[in-house]
Amino acid sequence: MPSPATALPELRIASNPLSPEAVAGLLGAGPRLALIFAAEAPLFQSTLHQLHLDAHAAGERVSDRVAVLGVHADWRTPDCRQARCALLVDADGLVSQYSFERPVPIDVAWTLHLPLDGEQELHASISADCDRAGLPQINPHPASERADDKMRAHRLWATYLAHGRDEFALPAATLIARGASQADVLSEIKRFVARVGLPSTIIVQPNRGTEGQSVAAARIDRGEAATLESRHPLVRHICEAILPSDDALVREERGNVRVNRSAGRALHRAPPMPGGTGWLSTPECAELRRVAFRVNVAWNGAEFVAESGFAQVAGSEGSVLASRGREGAIADINECFAQLHYRCAGGWRRFVASEADIEALRRAAAVAAWALNADLQEEEEEYLKHMGIDMVLEIDAESGKMTPVVLEANARPAGLNQATALRGIAPGPSRLHVSTALFHFIARRVRRCPLRTG
Ligand SMILES: Nc1ncnc2c1ncn2[C@@H]1O[C@H](COP(=O)(O)OP(=O)(O)O)[C@@H](O)[C@H]1O
Ligand SMILES: [Mg+2]
Repeated sequence: MPSPATALPELRIASNPLSPEAVAGLLGAGPRLALIFAAEAPLFQSTLHQLHLDAHAAGERVSDRVAVLGVHADWRTPDCRQARCALLVDADGLVSQYSFERPVPIDVAWTLHLPLDGEQELHASISADCDRAGLPQINPHPASERADDKMRAHRLWATYLAHGRDEFALPAATLIARGASQADVLSEIKRFVARVGLPSTIIVQPNRGTEGQSVAAARIDRGEAATLESRHPLVRHICEAILPSDDALVREERGNVRVNRSAGRALHRAPPMPGGTGWLSTPECAELRRVAFRVNVAWNGAEFVAESGFAQVAGSEGSVLASRGREGAIADINECFAQLHYRCAGGWRRFVASEADIEALRRAAAVAAWALNADLQEEEEEYLKHMGIDMVLEIDAESGKMTPVVLEANARPAGLNQATALRGIAPGPSRLHVSTALFHFIARRVRRCPLRTG
């Protein structure tokens, strides 16, 4: 018997194949978006369900209403343009797995929910299938590759910022290539700490990693640089845990805001917002945790729009990493944003965010999405049209100005089912939501150039 913690949720499987008429009744006449997945189907139900609700709400006209199908990579027909089976939301709002009497044509593909092992290679192969089939894609692999390779994304963003832009900042970063010897690693780390200055917290991670896997952090104090040696835990971690399978990305820690341990835990409910802007008492300080913000950005056909997201709150006061995979917890993005604290004059001070700060967060994510897609040949067709941008925040104690610091972009973001609409600072309930913009784009895209034949 699996323990309750590891048991998969149940997935209903319809016993009879759906007739073409029943399919038409369930899906309507609008565009069909296939979420191509390959990890466990039962774990994908709530994401499918949320995207179905978003698609329905976004459809201004019934004929524009995008039908959302969850199609396992193995359920596609050999030409990859049709689905033999799919997860669908039925008329009662329940997700079931259906087979079809006749394969069901699809119009647009979005690759999500792949097994972590071999994820990027599998995405490349699914994306190549879609290309051969002439299927438009939300996350075509060549553009997604720019996000999967964190250093490449970093360089694209650095190029953008070099043109005098300042909507976001980047951590100082360097890449240590796979073949590097221990001596190379040590000298590169020494060079890097000399560049960023001490004391600093240095974070190392696999350049193509995900979910906080193999990320390590160490604070290096003034005077320690000269004594850094190959037995240093950071150097050993790079050599033993990262370089055997990937390049190592080395970055300075950025972000100086914290939230209370309990911030945003009451996900999707609206607790009363604590008022006041005063200093925190000592016991409250002990509860402060680092927080990273995930903002979902989508292409609406004309621009990138930052619509929704969640916060990731670190699992303990000292923890540098907020990732879920590292004992961090998902929290409501709006509630966390309303409860930020920053260090000021030796203590922690409440940051009272304004609408302009929320707008700055949105804008940072949107321009980062745009810059990641810079110079793609056929523009929209090749764009990564939806991504989850991870950011930490910095508040300047003197001016009170907030700057988002962009860490990475996720081309197949997990946790879409936990995202809520970015609603601003007004108190009120948060609403589960991923995107409206993307469904407007899909409807327009399919209207402009329909592919479906069946
Ligand atoms: N330079 C940095 N400054 C502050 N926090 C960081 C930095 N790099 C990583 N982190 C923390 O580690 C987490 C994981 O890093 P990230 O770059 O998002 O990689 P991934 O999620 O792919 O493992 C982030 O969400 C953040 O909490
Ligand atoms: Mg991340």
